[in-house]
Amino acid sequence: MKFLIINGPNLNMLGIREPDKYGKESYEALLDKISAHCENDSIEVEFYQSNHEGALVDRIQQAYFEGMDAIVINPGAYTHTSIALLDAVKAVGIPTAEVHISKVEEREDFRQVSYIRAACCFTVTGHGTDGYLEAIDFLKEKLKDKNEG
Ligand code: DQA
Repeated sequence: MKFLIINGPNLNMLGIREPDKYGKESYEALLDKISAHCENDSIEVEFYQSNHEGALVDRIQQAYFEGMDAIVINPGAYTHTSIALLDAVKAVGIPTAEVHISKVEEREDFRQVSYIRAACCFTVTGHGTDGYLEAIDFLKEKLKDKNEG
């Protein structure tokens, strides 16, 4: 199984950026943690981070042509603004999970909308970076059920 982990704007600043909300773990440490988790499960994992909406759309489209099995995405602030990311996930039809490190539902009003959620089969918020692992586990089980069913 091949999984793509996408992080949107400012997530490369993990550990530096508002540690009270996003924790002290760096972006590199997050990638190491996800890699170790996927290695245990024999999942091939690829990472992508961009601060640019169009680049994120391009990467989602590319995933289709690469035959990615699943996508885990933390779209950062584009969660709350981007119909283009919603359309990209719908376009490729790859099972996708939405992750937020912070508990967005307990934050500002402008964070209460998630456009991408409508195209995602799983959402996790407020579990810190463990949320990425939960999303991976969910997608792994979903694909297993599909292959066995
Ligand atoms: C975030 C929540 C978003 O509202 C914010 O813009 C982010 C990070 C999270 O992981 O909690 O950049 O997606």
